[in-house]
Amino acid sequence: MLGNFVYANPTKLYFGDEAQKNLAEALMPFGRKVLLIYGGGSIRRNGVYDDVMAALRATDKEVVELSGVMPNPTVEKLEEGIKVARDNDADFILAVGGGSTIDYAKAVAVSAWYEGNAWERFWIRQEDPAPGERIIPVGAVLTMAGTGSEMNGGSVITNPDTKMKIGKVFGEEVMPRFAVLNPRYTFSLPRRQMVAGIFDCMSHIMEQYFSGDDDCTSDYLAEGLMRSVIASSRVAVKDPENYEARSNLMWSSTWALNTLIGKGKPQDWMVHMIGQAIGAHTDATHGMTLSGISVAYYRHMMKYGVKRFARFAKIVWGIPANGKSDEQMASEGIDALGAWIREIGADSDISSLGVTPDMLDAIADSTIVLTGGYKTPDHAEIVEILRESL
Ligand code: NZQ
Ligand code: ZN
Repeated sequence: MLGNFVYANPTKLYFGDEAQKNLAEALMPFGRKVLLIYGGGSIRRNGVYDDVMAALRATDKEVVELSGVMPNPTVEKLEEGIKVARDNDADFILAVGGGSTIDYAKAVAVSAWYEGNAWERFWIRQEDPAPGERIIPVGAVLTMAGTGSEMNGGSVITNPDTKMKIGKVFGEEVMPRFAVLNPRYTFSLPRRQMVAGIFDCMSHIMEQYFSGDDDCTSDYLAEGLMRSVIASSRVAVKDPENYEARSNLMWSSTWALNTLIGKGKPQDWMVHMIGQAIGAHTDATHGMTLSGISVAYYRHMMKYGVKRFARFAKIVWGIPANGKSDEQMASEGIDALGAWIREIGADSDISSLGVTPDMLDAIADSTIVLTGGYKTPDHAEIVEILRESL
């Protein structure tokens, strides 16, 4: 483990099939005026809204509601949230939903009292809030496992006009103060969303695993998490109401992206950058943009980090080495990843997401290029990876 780092995570978690019973206590320390943010209405159909309102009533909070946060929340929706938060002088934001709702709540939290253009400042220029700047504290009730937004500072916003989907990773001051994680809340997810969340979680781990070549504790943690995700996914796709599997998936997703397993090492994140560009052009489901390109992406990267890919095959997929070369093992590991994508029912191509050959150049243009992986892909390689994923 050769890297130097600081690690802190301020989010207090309440986990389990009665986790919502802690919500009133969790809300207690914060101000009276609560901005309740949620999505398109699933929480009204599955009973989560009633649980949340009961906790808010028990603490005598004054509640303002803001709903309709769409998957892949937009700049325009952010403007609405800024206005509602300011007009009501919200003391606290309670986000109830999946990654989109929680990401959006963080975006409103940092942007509400900023006088300028928040999109330009935080997402385009990637600035951080100034010390002492007013940020509304956020809490979360999670209803979909996958993004890790419940315990991180990430906030991904889409600008459909400029075809940019950009993540900003904020610091501790923006991370949720608490998150309520009840795996039963995820039972009502449509199968496609459950699977998208499973692949998103797996992708977060792979983004942090396929990089670096020193002996690093973080990589061993990543391997354990990947094995758990694979095992639980196989149960969950057959039996979506299996509490044991869904609780493991929820817990793994949180740990996959609460920054722990990326500590002390470089990280790749190019699957996410390309996936986000696909999302900006198609509004496709996040996890499916990742499953659609991962096999092609990793086949391109394999030769630059062949030992790690061979280790992935052996430890994560249990493929016996039997005297095979690292190249052979690496290739079999990627085959296993592809087979698993099909097995759980995630998308294995991007044509099904609405991508057509004439869009590939523009998607590559929208892709932000990061340099932490085994090889930094150039524009032509990104187009090639996209073409192979059609
Ligand atoms: O809007 P509602 O009606 O709630 O429906 C949602 C939405 O249609 C539905 N849903 C959620 N929980 C449900 C449910 N339906 C029934 N029962 C439930 N319990 O599922 C749909 C998708 O929800 P969404 O929040 O969009 O999904 P996800 O959690 O995958 O979030 C995706 C967003 O997170 C960003 C993505 O880019 C995307 O914008 N990400 C955030 C990250 C972070 N903060 O660190 C990292 C990720 O890599 C990702 O980029
Ligand atoms: Zn993701």
